[in-house]
Amino acid sequence: MKKPQYLILVCNSYRVAGDAQGACNKKGATTMLQYIAEEASDRGLDVAVTTTACLNVCSQGPVMVIQPNNYWYGGVSSEEVIDEILDALEEGECCEKYSIAD
Ligand code: FES
Repeated sequence: MKKPQYLILVCNSYRVAGDAQGACNKKGATTMLQYIAEEASDRGLDVAVTTTACLNVCSQGPVMVIQPNNYWYGGVSSEEVIDEILDALEEGECCEKYSIAD
């Protein structure tokens, strides 16, 4: 199996028990999944996109993490934001504007 170059994780607020009720899910994080996958593919980026449980930075959601770079982004709430983040990723850089972690 060939591993993807990047793994993009989108918080979907899963909880150990009960329904997803966290901030990212309520702010529509998962509606971004298809756009992220399609836009990354259009750019020739080798990515896998998946969802996660709550990443404990709820107030900054919707939250998206790109590994193995360990880029953590908040406020990922529109296609325009995703475009800016993927623009930076194409350059191998962190998009500081939406970065929520050092
Ligand atoms: S619900 Fe996304 S970080 Fe907590």
